[in-house]
Amino acid sequence: MKFFIDTANLNDIAEAEALGVLDGVTTNPSLMAKEGITGAANILNHYKKICDLVAGDVSAEVIATDYAGMIQQGEELAALHSQIVIKLPMIADGVKACKYFSDKGIKTNMTLIFSAGQALLAAKAGATYVSPFLGRLDDISTDGLNLISEMRLIYDNYGFKSQILAASVRNTMHVINCAKLGSDVMTGPLSSITGLLKHPLTDSGLAQFLEDYKKGN
Ligand code: G3P
Repeated sequence: MKFFIDTANLNDIAEAEALGVLDGVTTNPSLMAKEGITGAANILNHYKKICDLVAGDVSAEVIATDYAGMIQQGEELAALHSQIVIKLPMIADGVKACKYFSDKGIKTNMTLIFSAGQALLAAKAGATYVSPFLGRLDDISTDGLNLISEMRLIYDNYGFKSQILAASVRNTMHVINCAKLGSDVMTGPLSSITGLLKHPLTDSGLAQFLEDYKKGN
């Protein structure tokens, strides 16, 4: 299972990278705005900084909602760095743009996936990554994990190569449940990764080992 971090915060990205388990980064316009990164030039520059920090795929989202605009912005983003993955919204023009980039061998991430039907379309368009928004489905009292199961079944039934990228992951249980269901990738905040480290018995066990070592020395 690949671990992506879902943020535009350079410190958080560096911390996850330093842990040695980071496979990539996902961003979106809201995450950029949260870090105070505004304006096309600053945003493009920030993507380059992120690519310099990590070795893996970095999803960069188009703002255009029409096919021509998505192609233009996607080409510009792809030219920035070899690690850039073009993130496209799940609308008709996004599907068309996904097919265009897939045919050119440029990696894509179809975002804002909330149903199995959308996930099927994204796979048909050749998306590299397909991002179901787990947390946002949970937010409206539906079972986000059920969508991950449906996607796994459908993709395996037909051998679709698209990778399921569980997004809108909010906590460690989301990560563990996605792993159980066979999600290829998860993306979440730094806390969803570092939270996996924690167990009180690890802390108390280590404290006891160190205490006992001191007694013998
Ligand atoms: O990767 C999608 C993600 O950024 C959305 O997360 O927590 O805003 O639902 P959230």
